[in-house]
Amino acid sequence: MELLATLMRPMLAGALLLGTFASFASAADEKKNDTEKPGEKVSYFRDVVPIMREHCQGCHQPAKRGGELLLTTFAGLKKGGESGAPGFVAGKPDQSLLIEQITPEDGEAEMPKKKPPLDADQIALIRRWISEGAKDDTPINNAVAFDADHPPKYNAAPLITSLDYSPDGKLLAVSGYHEVLLHKADGSGLVARLVGLSERIEKVAFSPDGKFLAVTGGSPARMGELQIWNVEKRELMLSHTVTYDTIYGASWAPDGSKIAFGGSDNVLRAIDVKTGKQVLRMGSHSDWVLDTVFSVKGTHLISVGRDRSMKLTVVATQRFEDNITSITPGALKGGLAAVDRHPTKDELLCGGADGTPKVYRMIRKKARKIGDDFNRIRTFEKLPGRLFTVRYSRDGNRIVAGSSSNGTGEVRVFDANNGKRIAVMQGQAGAVYATAFSPDGKVVASGGFDGAVRLNDAATGKLIKQFVPVKVEPQVTAAK
Ligand code: HEC
Repeated sequence: MELLATLMRPMLAGALLLGTFASFASAADEKKNDTEKPGEKVSYFRDVVPIMREHCQGCHQPAKRGGELLLTTFAGLKKGGESGAPGFVAGKPDQSLLIEQITPEDGEAEMPKKKPPLDADQIALIRRWISEGAKDDTPINNAVAFDADHPPKYNAAPLITSLDYSPDGKLLAVSGYHEVLLHKADGSGLVARLVGLSERIEKVAFSPDGKFLAVTGGSPARMGELQIWNVEKRELMLSHTVTYDTIYGASWAPDGSKIAFGGSDNVLRAIDVKTGKQVLRMGSHSDWVLDTVFSVKGTHLISVGRDRSMKLTVVATQRFEDNITSITPGALKGGLAAVDRHPTKDELLCGGADGTPKVYRMIRKKARKIGDDFNRIRTFEKLPGRLFTVRYSRDGNRIVAGSSSNGTGEVRVFDANNGKRIAVMQGQAGAVYATAFSPDGKVVASGGFDGAVRLNDAATGKLIKQFVPVKVEPQVTAAK
């Protein structure tokens, strides 16, 4: 009896709501019918999934099952969550848990939790999909659902786009496919796999206190996602989906309160870590924003991108303040892929298509003159090819840069103070996309196209260790 009561509860609530929203839903339907071809059915895959992806999956996914409900697969939606009721009853929107949960009452809806309700036309669309029979038209093979118990399997080593050491020097985070791999810093073993929604991982960054790991990535042409993981518990704290493409370049405010990132929609954004709310949006870039870093005090945000510029934004006002790099046509060749800040000074190291690491001062001391590149304070030796990664050591005395040139790569360490080269990291075998200094500055980790992590002695360049961060099981194909 009690079970039945639980089962009935949401339906009763749904029935009670019926009167209020039936009129509003039909109004929305009318509006839709003006623009839509008559007879065209609402598609789950094309129409409903994008709404779920943007507003629901952050809290209803394998790594984070709010209310025991999975909204990343059709099966999950159909099954429903902790209440025991199915997610929907085909043909009967008014008896469907989903509709009950998303329909606002006095301007507020149960779901998305603690957020504004979905738009009326989105709710109407989901209603219509249920009325029309709630068919699953997901293309076959598009519904891979990885989670901690079903991690991805690799037929080949995944390319490595990002690496970061935990501040205590114990862990090395390595980007994988659909996951971040936490390794012991000396390469002696895999400690944990943080499996999330995004196929592609673009950047991994430990919080200043090392308790959290920020991850930017996404699924191309579908969504961008910022993940925040609790490192000790290996638990996903936040999944913030944004835009319809991969996002890049996660960086933490020095006090850990915010995370900034860039997008292929040319927008620089930052969110508040506690609330998950967007607190900064800056749209002055004219191409993809690929990397970000905060100033020493967290008052400013620096971003670089494919538009060849390094831009300065005031955090409190979200206002674009200055182009740090020259704006003279031809002064910078090609886009910028990476930026890092000196640990104690507002000096910015950047690298990009011209292969030359450079350091700029953040705040200009002189009014801009056309043609100047006045803020530049140091230029290092050019590496072969394009730079994808530049990093400072924790004491600010060294920099490392990694490049890619026609399928080969180089990693070089320089003296940050006099610009001289210290060593070339030996044993590189392919394009290099990621580097990191161990917190004590003694080791440089690097990775890239060939999928191996290399640990080199930062002072001599000697290869200490090389390992593939995942187990690779070449697919056994049946003989013909
Ligand atoms: C911020 C996190 C969050 C977001 C975003 C969110 N949910 Fe939820 N949802 C939860 C939690 C947590 C529960 C468990 C009940 C509760 O705490 O209110 C839940 C419960 C539910 C339930 C009830 C499951 C059951 O069987 O009891 C449904 C249905 C649901 N959510 C649908 C959605 C839909 C649809 C969206 C997007 C429009 C959405 N949620 C967005 C966190 C979230």
